[in-house]
Amino acid sequence: ERASSSLYRFPLLPVRGIPLMNHIANSWDTIWAFRPDPSDILIATYPKSGTTWTQEIVDLLLHNGDADACKRAPTPERSPFLELVAPPPIPSGIDLMKNMDPPRIIKTHLPFQLVPPAFWENKCKTIYVARNAKDNMVSYYHFACMSKTQPEPGPWEGYISKFMRGELAWGSWYDHVKGYWKEREKRNILYLFYEDMKENPRCEVERIMNYLDLSLSDEVISRIVELTSFEIMKENPMANYSCIPTHVFDNSISPFMRKGQVGDWRNHFTPEQSKMFAEDYDKKMKDVNIPFRTLI
Ligand code: A3P
Repeated sequence: ERASSSLYRFPLLPVRGIPLMNHIANSWDTIWAFRPDPSDILIATYPKSGTTWTQEIVDLLLHNGDADACKRAPTPERSPFLELVAPPPIPSGIDLMKNMDPPRIIKTHLPFQLVPPAFWENKCKTIYVARNAKDNMVSYYHFACMSKTQPEPGPWEGYISKFMRGELAWGSWYDHVKGYWKEREKRNILYLFYEDMKENPRCEVERIMNYLDLSLSDEVISRIVELTSFEIMKENPMANYSCIPTHVFDNSISPFMRKGQVGDWRNHFTPEQSKMFAEDYDKKMKDVNIPFRTLI
């Protein structure tokens, strides 16, 4: 246990200025050279902005809402994590994909400029999900407490500073959401918001369906909306990350499926922290007009 626990809390190393876990940084050439199939679908997010939720929606859409088919394996096996490299016996995302037939639903947290260029050469469909910065940070903080793959988050106050300085794994939230936003038209990226998915899940499920050139019955769409609700996914062992051993994801500290709400930041930010954060946010985001909502 002691020997294995030393494998966790991976240090971060910069790849072209973006802090990534050491195993990922050390395998960077292989990741950068990855060639997807043109039919593969990329789901790109900053960590904790609705990745797992979107993976479940897309898998159900590709399986015409068949709940059993989407319980064939846990999320990370059904939908490989492109840049994941971890100590044995965990297979890398790229190794997993070698045994899967396209179209594969590929997850990535890489910022736009680090996505392997073959995704754009092959015109792969790409869905980006963005979540408002404050809720995204709260969720990431709780995840860093429970997940031994993350560096120690430290106290909340200092975590806010690390987030603002772009020092967390996968770098700056600000640059991440902007990077995909600026490329969305040129690269035909479907840019979604967590808050819209929460407010009107059916509308967003239909947008994803249309983007993927699928046409499912109203009844199947309703079923997918139901199956991908927070309450149902939280109880689904193939979608709630209970597959990860507790010495890696300690659900007693915070469950992976934690709250699934918009506005939980109000329970974490003091008024002073909110003010300080907002002033910095306005400076960092003044060059774009991305319609984020912190409440619905
Ligand atoms: P909270 O920590 O705020 O609860 P990711 O999949 O990108 O790691 O994001 C995880 C966040 O999405 C967690 O947020 C998790 O609870 C939330 N989430 C997962 N499935 C969800 C669903 N079906 N509906 C709403 N939120 C969901």
